[in-house]
Amino acid sequence: EFHKHPREIHFSFNNPVIGKFDRRQLQRGFQVYKEVCSACHSAHLVAFRDLEEIGFTKPEVKAIATQWATETPSVNPDTGEAATRKSLPSDRIPTPYPNEVAARAANNNALPPDLSLMAKAREDGPAYIASLLSGYGPQPAELLAKFPDAKTPAGLHYNPYFANLNIAMPPPLVAEGQVTYSDGTKATVPQMAEDVAAFLEWTAEPKLETRRRTGIAVVIFLLIATGLAFGAYKNIWAGKK
Ligand code: HEM
Repeated sequence: EFHKHPREIHFSFNNPVIGKFDRRQLQRGFQVYKEVCSACHSAHLVAFRDLEEIGFTKPEVKAIATQWATETPSVNPDTGEAATRKSLPSDRIPTPYPNEVAARAANNNALPPDLSLMAKAREDGPAYIASLLSGYGPQPAELLAKFPDAKTPAGLHYNPYFANLNIAMPPPLVAEGQVTYSDGTKATVPQMAEDVAAFLEWTAEPKLETRRRTGIAVVIFLLIATGLAFGAYKNIWAGKK
C-alpha cells in the first residue's frame, strides 16, 4: 500500500498512433544522461553516431565521442588495465566501470544496470523512470508506525516508486540547475527526470516513429483494399439471385 504507481506524465510520444519524440527534449535528456547518470550507468546499445538521429550534427557527435574513453585490446603492462583511446562516432557509449566487481565496489555492492532498454524493462517505463528519479523522500511515519522493522537500512534510500521501496541508487537529481540547458529550459528536478526518461525511451525504441508511420500506412491500405474487395464482390454478384 506504500508502493506508488508512476505519476501520469505527458510525454510527446504517449499517443500510440501519432505520438512523436520531441528532439529538443531528447537532446536535453542525453545531456542529463551524460552529465549525471553515465557516472554509474552504461547505455551500451547506443553508438555515438546514433545521436545524429536526435538532432546532433556529425561534428557535434564527434566532439561528444572524444569526451569518452574507449578500451582497446592492448593492456598496459604495468597496471594490467586495458589501454584506452578517445571514442569515435562508431563506438558504443562505454561502461563507466571496467567490470562488475569494480561497479559493485563503487556502489555499496549494488549493480547499476545498463539503461539502454530500461524504458522497456519496467511497466510504464518512461513514467516510471521519471517518477523514480523525482520521487525520493523520507519514509512516511505511517509506514514506520505499522511496520517498525521496515526502516530503510543504511546505504539504501527510500523511494515509493521502487518495487521494494528501498533502492541502492542515491538520489541522482537533487538540485534545480544541476545541468545547464542550452535551449533555455529551466532545469528543475522533474524536468530533468522527464527529459532523461524521454531519452531512455528513445534508446529503447529508436524506431518508434517509423513503426507508427508504417502502421498508419498499413491501416489506410487495408481500408482501401477492403473497399475495393467489397466493390468487386458487389460487381461480380450484380444481377444474380
Ligand atoms: C538503478 C536510472 C544515476 C546508481 C537504476 C534504475 C534506473 C536508474 C532506471 C533501475 C531501477 C529499477 O531496477 O527499477 C538512473 C538515471 C540516472 C541515474 C536516469 C541519472 C539521472 C545514477 C548514479 C548512480 C546510480 C549517478 C551512482 C552514484 C544506481 C544503482 C542502481 C541503480 C546502484 C541499482 C539500485 C538497486 O538495485 O537497488 N538507476 N540512474 N544511478 N542506479 Fe541509477
